[in-house]
Amino acid sequence: MYRSHTCGELRLSHNGQRITLAGWVQRSRDLGGMTFVDLRDRYGITQLAFNAEEQPELCEKARKLGREFVIQVTGTVIERSSKNAQLPTGDIEIKVEQLEVLNAAKLPPFTIEDETDGGDELRMQYRYLDLRRNPVQQKLMLRNKVALETRVYLNSQQFLDVETPVLIKSTPEGARDFVVPSRMNEGQFYALPQSPQTFKQLLMVSGFDRYYQIVKCFRDEDLRADRQPEFTQIDCEMAFVEQEDVLNTFEGLIQHLFKTVRGVDLPEVFPRMTYAEAMSIFGSDKPDIRFGMEFVYLNDEAKGKGFSIFDDAEVVLAINAEDCVEYTRKQLDELTDWVKRPQIGAKGLVYVRCNADGTFKSSVDKFYSQEDLAQWAKKANAKPGDLLLVLSGELEKTRKQMNELRLHMGNQLGLRNPNVFKPLWVLDFPLLEWDEESNRFHAMHHPFTSPKPEDIELLDTDPKAVRANAYDLAMNGVELGGGSIRIHNKALQSRMFDLLGFTKEEAEAQFGFLMSAFEFGAPPHGGLAFGLDRLVATMGGSESIRDYIAFPKNNSGRDTMIDAPSPLDEHQLKELGIRLNA
Ligand code: AMO
Repeated sequence: MYRSHTCGELRLSHNGQRITLAGWVQRSRDLGGMTFVDLRDRYGITQLAFNAEEQPELCEKARKLGREFVIQVTGTVIERSSKNAQLPTGDIEIKVEQLEVLNAAKLPPFTIEDETDGGDELRMQYRYLDLRRNPVQQKLMLRNKVALETRVYLNSQQFLDVETPVLIKSTPEGARDFVVPSRMNEGQFYALPQSPQTFKQLLMVSGFDRYYQIVKCFRDEDLRADRQPEFTQIDCEMAFVEQEDVLNTFEGLIQHLFKTVRGVDLPEVFPRMTYAEAMSIFGSDKPDIRFGMEFVYLNDEAKGKGFSIFDDAEVVLAINAEDCVEYTRKQLDELTDWVKRPQIGAKGLVYVRCNADGTFKSSVDKFYSQEDLAQWAKKANAKPGDLLLVLSGELEKTRKQMNELRLHMGNQLGLRNPNVFKPLWVLDFPLLEWDEESNRFHAMHHPFTSPKPEDIELLDTDPKAVRANAYDLAMNGVELGGGSIRIHNKALQSRMFDLLGFTKEEAEAQFGFLMSAFEFGAPPHGGLAFGLDRLVATMGGSESIRDYIAFPKNNSGRDTMIDAPSPLDEHQLKELGIRLNA
């Protein structure tokens, strides 16, 4: 038996007990007469005490322990003379009688404590050491709990966990595929699933009725804080359902997770907004509704007064930063520089200070009278003490820029409390989006998403206006998940492929299996997938998913610890029938 207890377990109630612990040396302090060692494992830290006078040899051995040595000690639990209220085990220490070094350790490249001196890159390279740190372990424990409770809930709702293959054929989620060459079929490639979309639909055809899987998905796309090339979905599908059934079921899942994992009661009914409303009010399809600052359209008030930038703009858009009249010139200049950065792309920023005395001061005073500005303020519901921030330009671009500015202001003003959780269903996404590059329509969600029945006739006349039975769950400005009611009829599915510019042959080659399955009695069905990494990160109050993944990739898609991706040797390439250009 390596240990009788863990390092997080012992309390005053164990006083006098003889115990054995095993773990890592976090640090040791040599105080002359006494040497103290903090012993750490996943469960906590326990202080070991060595008395130089009573046990000189043992104490000498303890003094030689380096950081991260793996040791085993046997001793007696005693009450501490100076207690540490910060530690759950802080009332006791172990009077050590035996000490065994199980394994020595090289000096770690950074300190393995809650606050570490290691930079991001170093910690990624030695991720197995970073994972010893308590805050990192807590994040993975949170993930474990969320996954466990997901299974509990979905199981209670008759969902069956079914695994689907990883070596498949291209899936249509809109990113590039990662591909795997086949040795046995030279010159041919598998694609890794961007999601199990087609398989879960086939499972509905097979009669499984309610499917789920906590599953790895792979997408070769540009990486961001909330994107990894391989990530995990809670992937679900249901047969004989309408949109309302899906929304209710997964509202239940999210409520269950927040309640059981974080003790948070989410609203009984999640608010809903159409895509069109979300874009108009927040300029985002995943609005953060923890705070207001809704968009105010000032076209009527601001155009036609000789200020050519506004006169020529498609839209003049404002937000009201409440109680921000005190923003200094310097702060306003900084905001202007911020919106002008290439990532945001605004040409400039106009402000209006709503002074306490009822007057206005703006950066465009030359063109607008006090009465004009009073109208802007009225439209924006601004009171004395508030600050209006105004952008103008093309509608879509300006909305996007204003969304960024709104979130930036939300951050600056502390309105995005990570311990407040505001879910929002965004509904009625457009079915199609026009892609300038390829000069054709793309499915906004994926090609299996059904149009709203009342919009089907627009498919021929005004495809852009067709709304889909598609929905996303947004929370705190993050898209946690999305899904749709699917097309389950071959004729409509063929029409979709037509619209998306697939020839009959291409559609047949890529999705023939699904189209044939639809000829054998496909039930009406729909589903959704949550990004588990994003869900857990949001529950943990973070925007970055990397910390919630045990072995993540960096921004260039590399795992620097195992040094992947890496070249293949000649022999392997030859066996696969691959010759490299370079
Ligand atoms: P979608 O493409 O919207 O839908 O993906 C579902 C959810 O997966 C998460 N997600 C990601 N998380 C981390 N890194 C990524 N690169 C990444 N890409 C997506 C997001 C997203 O909301 N098959 C459909 C679902 C369906 O229709 O049922 C699908 O995959 O949280």
